[in-house]
Amino acid sequence: MKPINRRGFIHLSSFGLTSFTLPGFINKSVLINKKPIVVSTWDAGLNANLAAWKVLSTGGTALDAVEQGVMVTENEINCCVGLGANPDRDGHVTLDASIMDHQFNCGSVAFLERIKHPISVARRVMEKTPHVMLVGSGAQQFAISEGFSLEKDELSKDAKNAYENWLKKSTYKPIYNVERQSEIPKNDAAYNAPHKLSNGEWNHDTIGMIALDAQGNLSGSCTTSGAGFKMRGRLGDSPIIGAGLYVDNEVGAVVATGQGEDVIRVAGSSAVVEFMRQGKSPKEACKLVIERIRRIKKEKAKDIQVCFIAINNKGEYGAYALHNGFNYAVHSEKGNELLESEFLD
Ligand code: GLY
Repeated sequence: MKPINRRGFIHLSSFGLTSFTLPGFINKSVLINKKPIVVSTWDAGLNANLAAWKVLSTGGTALDAVEQGVMVTENEINCCVGLGANPDRDGHVTLDASIMDHQFNCGSVAFLERIKHPISVARRVMEKTPHVMLVGSGAQQFAISEGFSLEKDELSKDAKNAYENWLKKSTYKPIYNVERQSEIPKNDAAYNAPHKLSNGEWNHDTIGMIALDAQGNLSGSCTTSGAGFKMRGRLGDSPIIGAGLYVDNEVGAVVATGQGEDVIRVAGSSAVVEFMRQGKSPKEACKLVIERIRRIKKEKAKDIQVCFIAINNKGEYGAYALHNGFNYAVHSEKGNELLESEFLD
């Protein structure tokens, strides 16, 4: 038998034999040669992508990339991710996160307090426990047992200001990033950095990230403080596998952002994966689920924002949103760029 040449490689790949190994001739890493790509939600994704790309461009796994990528956002002070984010209506920051790899392994944490990197705790749940999801004090106890530090129970300066503003009316009304730039004066620093708003005006968002590595494996991650000033104990879609995040390595990876309740009711990310399985492109698949949400919500759809990003197993990507104002960041070998999503209306 002759050693495999490039033609042979293409031939085997095209028949889906990418994990096939010829003893003594070639190993999996030679056979599989996908072009890595990472896609993440919102403009915060640009920074997060840089960390993910460091992993992907040096042959690392999509799983490591999506964990390390969103940790960047968890470290930033912003309205909606990590310990610096807006609190619930009782004044406490509670965090949700999930992670999923190419073999249907998944882990999540929800209603987690005082832990800086919920995404890493979610990964430990996936790798070190027989469970998929840990919540509240149990999740915190597990994190501490795994060596995570218990941070102070205090709000960031931005969150404290936003909370004090909110307390003046104390009404629960998530304000989504819909057409946000058109509402911000162009000379305001927030115009290009809506995650760093100091007036607490926008209070709902998530960083979600999906990636394909050079081995042809997909993974995804999602981390958020959920809706600002939510009821204590409220969970959104982000920690729910199939809603906020879903990965099927034979098909694609999907993550959601926006009104979690409406992503949950359609099992949003899983539904997008199923449309891709039927042959739809990532963008078409996202659009079909957004249309479904619009049909369900009827006239109430105008008050919410829901958005999906998706990658298929060929590395094609796409996004779709209910309304204008959603952007997403894509890093491939061509560079790191922020794209405006298409939307229904
Ligand atoms: N999409 C995040 C949440 O609703 O909590």
